[in-house]
Amino acid sequence: MSRIPLIAGNWKMNNTKRETLDFLSSFLPKVENITIEMAICPPFTDLYAAAEKLKGTKVKLGAQNMHWEETGAFTGEVSPLMLKEIPCDYVIIGHSERRQYFAETDETVNKKIKSAIKHNIAPIVCVGESLAQREEGITIDFVMTQVENALKDIKPEDAKKIVFAYEPIWAIGTGKTASASDAQEVIGAIRNKIEKLYNKDVAEDVRILYGGSVKPENIKELMAEADIDGALVGGASLKPDSFYALCSFNL
Ligand code: 13P
Repeated sequence: MSRIPLIAGNWKMNNTKRETLDFLSSFLPKVENITIEMAICPPFTDLYAAAEKLKGTKVKLGAQNMHWEETGAFTGEVSPLMLKEIPCDYVIIGHSERRQYFAETDETVNKKIKSAIKHNIAPIVCVGESLAQREEGITIDFVMTQVENALKDIKPEDAKKIVFAYEPIWAIGTGKTASASDAQEVIGAIRNKIEKLYNKDVAEDVRILYGGSVKPENIKELMAEADIDGALVGGASLKPDSFYALCSFNL
């Protein structure tokens, strides 16, 4: 088993092209000694400029969403062909904000994952329960259904390319982090589910991140858990210093 940790910054609707370039000017000189994988996921309009600046560096690039079709009459959408040409290494799929505000469903998430894999862009697939679901005691059932639906008709060799991100909705942007042991419980259950759906080999290869109020102060504790392979970070990824502090958690 050799899963390389990944810390990815989901910038959401923050940072113009200029701000992205300023971030990278300050962040990139710091990262020479970083041994884990790092990625930033800026808005679509910043991707090309970011990619140019990231050439020859260790930092990977991701988009925050994409359509599953390659071309067509889908005003306002961005296709996998467009992301591939940037080039993007990753694409976040099914973030809870997309599910909540833009009506994404398990079915569209599954289509997007298949399309991303077909185009050789690694999907970072988000799952996670609401506060009401946690209080009702249905967290594991709900998240396992999301995982199963995400993986529908995906072959084992393709499933290995997926990165999952467990992001409890109540922990996103609230300052309330799931405790490391609560995060491990759900993430361990996701890994067991993948083993049941495929086999141990696939389950051991798939990386599963935690997201939701990850900060320099709690990253070490989260990363110490057996099944947590990294973090998908919102707010704390927006400043070069705090993102560097997260990426250097093990130094
Ligand atoms: P915060 O780190 O701001 O809680 O956001 C988490 C998130 O949604 C990452 O995708």
